[in-house]
Amino acid sequence: MQRVVKSPYALRQVLVCTNLRDPSTGKPSCGMNGGVAFREHLKKAVKERGLKGQVMITGTSCMDFCPAQGCVVAFYPENEWRIVDPTPEEEEAVLQRAIRGPEEG
Ligand code: FES
Repeated sequence: MQRVVKSPYALRQVLVCTNLRDPSTGKPSCGMNGGVAFREHLKKAVKERGLKGQVMITGTSCMDFCPAQGCVVAFYPENEWRIVDPTPEEEEAVLQRAIRGPEEG
């Protein structure tokens, strides 16, 4: 049996790929590209800014995109995916996108 429930997060869920793949495979992974720390920084920023209950930051396994650089970030409910360099500037851009939603136009 399944039940449909309303998300407890008022604005958005942000998925951040934190998959760590053994470099010897020759295939990149978001976690090795800084995704793990990026997710932690985002979670900390959400808490510090009082956005708990508004924005949910969720680490995921491989989202099957596996960029050579950066990590995959996906915004829901819009289903908008981005490849993000794990820098403080991009962290701020992700937070602003999560708060404000997609740009018009
Ligand atoms: S490792 Fe992140 S999308 Fe595959």
